[in-house]
Amino acid sequence: MTDKFLTNRQGHPVFDNQNQRTVGARGPATLENYQFLEKISHFDRERIPERVVHARGVTAYGYFEAYGMLGDEPISRYTRAKLFQDRGKRTDLAIRFSTVIGGRDSAETARDPRGFAVKFYTEDGNWDLVGNNLGVFFIRDAIKFPDVIHALKPDPVTFRQEPNRIFDFMSQTPESMHMLVNLFSPRGIPADYRHMQGFGVNTYKWVNARGETHLVKYHWMPKQGVKSMTQEEASKVQALDLGHATRDLHEAIDRGDYPEWELLVQIMTDDEHAELDFDPLDDTKVWPENEFPPMPVGKMVLNRNVANNFAENEQISFGTGVLVDGLDFSDDKMLVGRTFSYSDTQRYRVGPNYLQLPVNQAKHADVRTNQRDGLMTYHVDGEGENPHVNYEPSITGGLREAEYPTHDEQGPVLTGRLTRKRIPRTNDYLQAGQRYLLMQEWERDDLVTNLVANLKQCDRPIQERMVWHFLMVEDDLGLRVGQGLGITPADVAHLEPLPKQELNEEETKRLSQLG
Ligand code: HEM
Repeated sequence: MTDKFLTNRQGHPVFDNQNQRTVGARGPATLENYQFLEKISHFDRERIPERVVHARGVTAYGYFEAYGMLGDEPISRYTRAKLFQDRGKRTDLAIRFSTVIGGRDSAETARDPRGFAVKFYTEDGNWDLVGNNLGVFFIRDAIKFPDVIHALKPDPVTFRQEPNRIFDFMSQTPESMHMLVNLFSPRGIPADYRHMQGFGVNTYKWVNARGETHLVKYHWMPKQGVKSMTQEEASKVQALDLGHATRDLHEAIDRGDYPEWELLVQIMTDDEHAELDFDPLDDTKVWPENEFPPMPVGKMVLNRNVANNFAENEQISFGTGVLVDGLDFSDDKMLVGRTFSYSDTQRYRVGPNYLQLPVNQAKHADVRTNQRDGLMTYHVDGEGENPHVNYEPSITGGLREAEYPTHDEQGPVLTGRLTRKRIPRTNDYLQAGQRYLLMQEWERDDLVTNLVANLKQCDRPIQERMVWHFLMVEDDLGLRVGQGLGITPADVAHLEPLPKQELNEEETKRLSQLG
């Protein structure tokens, strides 16, 4: 037995941890029983709100190693971000994999996108790359996020995830088709976290020393290969283990079988690219790899598990606003909304001083702010020479502004009038159809089986609208899903485009052929 004895949080020894203080062995308890009250009231406060999305997840640590080049050019031509510059340069990182919809104890076999969030602890401060495993998303404007999540989350009355609610929303949201074709294919249930890809999904910018900007998309490719599960395989795993993917990652790292991913980027000049049939700022689209080949820029190795799940997995906080010099946002309307949402929810979920927690601190950069106090503040961030000065400007020893690294303006000049409009070139069906045709036969079969199984639980008008969309995506997909539901193209030929839907020439042609 250890010689370390139990205390309370005031450092008082605990002589009896089994019995409350009472008047006599059978008598009433006393209210001044500090030891009991501290123990029970702390327990009452053990949980913080779980993440509103991505509640179930696992965190691990490792490093990123840069290649220093982009193709055969030095990477500095495109970005001055220090972590990418020198071949072999290593940057510490934390990663959190997650599912999206279920609560923090839910099954990891769910058909659900997987979160793939990486926090790089660079010398210029932290960089978070918060992505998923499917490369695209359901919607392209952040204002729709609460709606898509409400549709996917349990019904507010029955508290069951209901296909009818999900497809009610999706059937009115044509931009979701590309994501749905991915999500209901085997890729919608990765075998585990080590065998899946990751994508930044949103479009970001790179900035070089001259202030020139490029648009960029990020891809993580697992050296372990990509493996997925069919619904049937997933059911068998789920019957035995709700947390198989967390266990798999923990065990691999514990036995020294360190998982690795290569980071690749696609890059294009920073403009609208009128020559493309989609907008490069649209996160429901991928960039064709033949025109924009993914180029490797480094690799990630995971080699350490967390020591405390709550401190390091529950409280770790990622956000798309967390960028370092040489990296920037694009005007992608999802990205802008996300950037507000993450730190907002973390100030509520973890607390206003969440950035003082060790896992969230910029541990390889100095932090010096004039932010003070607030709930659970842990220390004063680094300060100037005079501790009385917690404001700026000051001539009495406070902190001063940093110098701009190279320039104080960058990127193209933008003009426009205030409006609320969807971006042009929505082209909601083409890439969904291309994805379908690229699948192997068994993947197409699985996709159709999964869609039919879910749509069978939906009302007829929702089924018809979904078959209509799938016929617009690709004849074969629409015909097969329709067949599974007993719906023919003639049954849906009367449907008009959705009220605010604008079809392009090709889509109008497809529509005219439906009957
Ligand atoms: C987590 C909002 C779109 C990936 C979260 C959280 C919120 C949120 C509030 C919880 C964060 C926390 O409690 O710490 C949004 C909004 C979106 C959006 C408003 C759209 C406008 C996306 C997209 C992706 C994504 C497109 C993938 C590219 C993630 C990931 C996490 C997350 C990976 C979990 C981070 C972690 O492991 O802690 N999101 N999200 N989100 N989101 Fe999003």
